[in-house]
Amino acid sequence: MIAPEETHIEKHTCSSEEETLALGERLAQELSAGDMVCIAGDLGAGKTVLCRGIAAGLGVDPSDVRSPTFAIAHEYRGAVEVLHFDCYRISKPEEVLQIGWDDYLQRPAVILIEWPENIEPLLQEESFTGKFLWIDIGAAGSNRELTVTRKI
Ligand SMILES: Nc1ncnc2c1ncn2[C@@H]1O[C@H](COP(=O)(O)OP(=O)(O)OP(=O)(O)O)[C@@H](O)[C@H]1O
Ligand SMILES: [Mg+2]
Repeated sequence: MIAPEETHIEKHTCSSEEETLALGERLAQELSAGDMVCIAGDLGAGKTVLCRGIAAGLGVDPSDVRSPTFAIAHEYRGAVEVLHFDCYRISKPEEVLQIGWDDYLQRPAVILIEWPENIEPLLQEESFTGKFLWIDIGAAGSNRELTVTRKI
């Protein structure tokens, strides 16, 4: 979470999967190793689609990007390493600590997290030195409202 007084919020409407992919590719341009993007939204909101766009923008083959629901984390190699977490099945943040969360954070990678709400106590913005984005996706039909929150 980012303290409300320090945030900059921008909203985007994406009316197709392709537009969400393209937004992800654009967002990737401001990311580099050490940055984290948390992506929240209901089942089917388009979190993985956005991750695919971001990863593609970082030089990862988009067809490699799938929800890592069973493995929790997927690792991709692009121009930088991309670590993709899906915390849907996580009921306690300790479960992520057990799979080596602290070691993942040490890696020179861009970290993408679906269902970040489930590990929110581990996601205090001030504990990261890299860029920290929190994106909420709301869905209505094929429209997606993406709210991107970042520290000023
Ligand atoms: N504007 C849009 N942007 C993104 N996806 C869209 C859009 N319109 C329709 N879709 C569809 O919504 C679905 C989004 O699926 P996706 O796997 O990305 O969701 P998710 O949020 O990752 O779900 P889960 O919580 O199960 O991981 C896809 O089937 C995609 O084709
Ligand atoms: Mg997903």
